Amino acid sequence: MKTARPPRALLTAVVAIPAKEAAAMAASLNALAQATSMLTSAYKHFHWTVAGPHFVSLHALYDTHAGTLAAHVDDLAERIVQLGAVPMILPADVAAASPLKAPDAGVADWTSQLAFLESAHVALVRHLTEAISDATDPGVADLLTRIVQDHQKMAWMIRASLHGT
Ligand SMILES: [Fe+2]
Repeated sequence: MKTARPPRALLTAVVAIPAKEAAAMAASLNALAQATSMLTSAYKHFHWTVAGPHFVSLHALYDTHAGTLAAHVDDLAERIVQLGAVPMILPADVAAASPLKAPDAGVADWTSQLAFLESAHVALVRHLTEAISDATDPGVADLLTRIVQDHQKMAWMIRASLHGT
């Protein structure tokens, strides 16, 4: 037997905030999810193409970070649905709208990979910090606060790999 979908207003009410605020936060979360998806793809590309004296450690580190980011995409998408909106994280959406652009095609040397990743994490920490202060829902603020801590930790690991500090 087919079950009717609950009306959109009921989905929004789960988060107990006005629909206009929910829509604004969903748009912000979609931009973050697109950037996170782009960064996940970049990490996997680097995981496959890294070469050089630090191959073993970077190959493993990149995959660990890609896994963390893939979990972020899932958490962000599920929160977007709870806000009554639609996740816009299909590859075409990410390519068209992600605030974080893709790395150059082809194979980059390992220092260029790390420099790209360092600046991506810094940009995402800034974006997340703004989104946390704009959040009018405690669940969204908590989710983003947990995500920004992961980015700060990943940024430290990438920076230490690149600069030794
Ligand atoms: Fe692999």
